[in-house]
Amino acid sequence: MAVKSILRMGDPRLFSVSELVAQEEFDTLDDLIQDMLDTMDAANGAGLAAPQIGVMKRVAVYGIDINPRYPDAGQIPLTVLVNPKITPLTEELESDWEGCLSVPGMRGLVPRFGRIRYSALNPQGEEIGGEVDGFHARVIQHECDHLDGVLYPMRIEDMQNFGFEQELMVQSFESIPKYQEIEEASIQ
Ligand code: NI
Repeated sequence: MAVKSILRMGDPRLFSVSELVAQEEFDTLDDLIQDMLDTMDAANGAGLAAPQIGVMKRVAVYGIDINPRYPDAGQIPLTVLVNPKITPLTEELESDWEGCLSVPGMRGLVPRFGRIRYSALNPQGEEIGGEVDGFHARVIQHECDHLDGVLYPMRIEDMQNFGFEQELMVQSFESIPKYQEIEEASIQ
């Protein structure tokens, strides 16, 4: 299908609540889903929600093969969620760094539930779901937030932990002793 342009933070559509996909709409989902997959691939994204391409429906896609934007994330199978719901399975929140194709060039430290149960429909209208943790749980929570008009910067607790990727990389490299050792060794 087509690579669509991705709405960026500031566009009011990203702060809107998306509509449930009705039973009779499932026949028309194929084009939307293909557009979302094409757009996510082209942008090297780990996930994408329909409102990010201006379609205010509760559809999200995600998956990670080996993603240069998330080198430590491991693999997550390519999944399409229609009308997803989340139930937290832990009370405590875990903080980790997130980015978003609608907030390009930035990263922020975001608290999320460490383990969740999710349920949704697949593009064929069949029920799917499971229990996931770690980055997988984080991606689903991030994408479901998009369907409720929430972007990750709205969840950052300390705005000192929000910044440009390039600046944050410099900071974290300097704080890793191993990196300094390697650098010194390579000078010799
Ligand atoms: Ni996002």
